[in-house]
Amino acid sequence: MSTTTHERIIRPARNILGTLRLPGDKSISHRYAMLGAFAEGTSRFSNFSTGADCASTLSCMQALGARVRNLEDGRIEIDGVGGRVTPANLPLDCGNSGSTMRMISGLLAPQQGSFTLIGDASLTSRPMDRIRKPLAEMGAHLTLTDGHAPITIEGAPLHPIDFTTPVPSAQVKTCILLAGLQTTGATTIHEALRTRDHSELALRAFGASLARSIDSINITGPQTLHAIDASVPGDISSAAFFLCAASLFPNSGLILDGIGLNPTRAALLDVLTTLGARIAVLQIEESHAELVGTVQITTDPEGLRSTEISGALAAQLIDELPVLAAIGPYTSGGIRIRDARELRVKESDRIALVARNLRAMGAEVEEFEDGLDVPGGQQLHGAVIDSGGDHRIAMAFSIAALRAEGETLIQGAESAAISFPEFFDLLDLVAER
Ligand code: S3P
Repeated sequence: MSTTTHERIIRPARNILGTLRLPGDKSISHRYAMLGAFAEGTSRFSNFSTGADCASTLSCMQALGARVRNLEDGRIEIDGVGGRVTPANLPLDCGNSGSTMRMISGLLAPQQGSFTLIGDASLTSRPMDRIRKPLAEMGAHLTLTDGHAPITIEGAPLHPIDFTTPVPSAQVKTCILLAGLQTTGATTIHEALRTRDHSELALRAFGASLARSIDSINITGPQTLHAIDASVPGDISSAAFFLCAASLFPNSGLILDGIGLNPTRAALLDVLTTLGARIAVLQIEESHAELVGTVQITTDPEGLRSTEISGALAAQLIDELPVLAAIGPYTSGGIRIRDARELRVKESDRIALVARNLRAMGAEVEEFEDGLDVPGGQQLHGAVIDSGGDHRIAMAFSIAALRAEGETLIQGAESAAISFPEFFDLLDLVAER
């Protein structure tokens, strides 16, 4: 990520109106890029994520021997390495992307050669022992630096494991699946709380077979992947900012076309419905086992009510919690978040930053180790927001700012480009002032 920081002024809005089609889902793009680059043959993807995180995955896979071409019609084309990567001469730079670092570690651990993974300051402070442990159990030679990146991997043949993930994490699950794919025998992963299943769906789309039960996944390796042509569904975590924005105003009407509606990602729609927004899915179809559809949101003139997000729901909504907390003051009964300790080890400590920035806007908020209580019925005022270089904090508070009194200055606004470079332009397009 660039070290230059940019500020953005967000002025209050009257409502949110329009129709948008959003760039491709970050999670699915990472997986398609990694699997396409690892597979046999040439894959083509349309609506690939425009975010810097997925560019980090693409450049790592290029450094490992895959060829990536940007086609004139906006699609990308990847020639896969056919299951055998070329050891990179230089460290693989994962930038700000935890998904890249954790998932690629599983892909590389069973390969031949030495690899070093590095990242920016935020990524270097994030916990990596969660991938070292299962990979070490499989016999991998992986060394961390004080529990963090830089990570060095001396590739070696692995043996299968039966592993229970200690924290709900799709990145850790994927890391083990990618190692298991290349390992002789049956690797099993148990998840106490089900996390996003894009890896399972994508692996099958690329021709792998895996077995799933309610709380476990089993992959028997080694298996070969085969190239696919696919369109990436619009990112529902990016859509969350616009859906929450629309829900703040009594006269909003917003349609989002081509949005990913995978049930392990779409809990936001239920939460917004509980809060009182009116959500309609106007059309739905399947693409490589991912659900994609058109979502319409209109609002109840009574405004937003209250909700509690805890347990399995907190894990499923982990990326949407900052924006939900940021609109909490505008509900009548508040938003209570628990069981979300993982928010503290994301691109920033999102619990601390949400609390600090809500307070800067004049809100009362109580911070817990694993969540937040944001009372409702509060009017916020414009303030200077410290995004902490975290894309989701910058965007969440741009949404809170739409209903504040006065202007808000978002510091580090450029971080939105980590997942959603078009965010501010699209917000200007649909926010009526
Ligand atoms: C992701 C999984 C989640 C999420 C992240 C993307 C993925 O992280 O927060 O933005 O694509 O698998 P964890 O696996 O650490 O929960």
